[in-house]
Amino acid sequence: MESKETMTIPKLQSMKKEGQKITCLTAYDYLTAFILDSAGIDLVLVGDSCSMVFAGHPTTLPITMEQMVYHTQAVSRGVQRAIVISDMPFLSFQAGSEEAVKNAGRFLKEGQAHGVKVEGGEAIAETIRRLVQIGIPVMGHLGLTPQSIRFFGGYGIRGLEKTEADRLQKDAKILEEAGVFSIVLEKIPAGLAEQITKSVSVPTIGIGAGVHCDGQILVTADMLGFFEVFKPKFVRQYERIAKRIQKAVRNYIEDVKNNEYPAKEESY
Ligand code: KIV
Repeated sequence: MESKETMTIPKLQSMKKEGQKITCLTAYDYLTAFILDSAGIDLVLVGDSCSMVFAGHPTTLPITMEQMVYHTQAVSRGVQRAIVISDMPFLSFQAGSEEAVKNAGRFLKEGQAHGVKVEGGEAIAETIRRLVQIGIPVMGHLGLTPQSIRFFGGYGIRGLEKTEADRLQKDAKILEEAGVFSIVLEKIPAGLAEQITKSVSVPTIGIGAGVHCDGQILVTADMLGFFEVFKPKFVRQYERIAKRIQKAVRNYIEDVKNNEYPAKEESY
């Protein structure tokens, strides 16, 4: 356990000024959240990647507000120190500021989250401004924004071309001006992420965006090696947990088949 001192959004922001890296991971359930928090993670994201990783959908598009609130509640129960941020699911904020306020508010009121994350740039700046005005902390998300997958047509790197790179730099400044407390930069060239990081006062959190971001985030299942068939270049597997679980399950099957489980001391 690293530190019991509670994280806050202002503390997270001051970490950029102090040159301290910010660590973030995803969780969708109580136990994972508890483990991440007790290991000392700064921010737990209840990502809409839950749609794919937890529920097995091919995209993040199907997950609903109800499901995201449910997962946020479970995660918040497991966290004592870290900041909990909930992803606003597809169509929960794009249709207008008032709907966004009601939905984002649910994450704080019913889910005990500290704030929300929204994907997009200039097009949602007004909505972000409104959320921030009423006291809902907002994390931006630029670059590869998976809710726009039908528009992009795939999960490739964003910002390779100058026009898109310029757009992303402008969007980062617009998000900063709208009041976000931080910006996720997903799957963009490291040099572009570095320029954006230098140009904004709020911390950037990279995923596939190189080492110069103010912090990093990964999907926990990816960095633990839960899903062996999916390993993007930017993921470092810190464990091969699928292999370890399979081994444990095979041992259990063998023990049950051979009447070696339960033993006398495991029986009443
Ligand atoms: O949904 C998610 O998990 C995310 C992170 C990958 C940034 O948006």
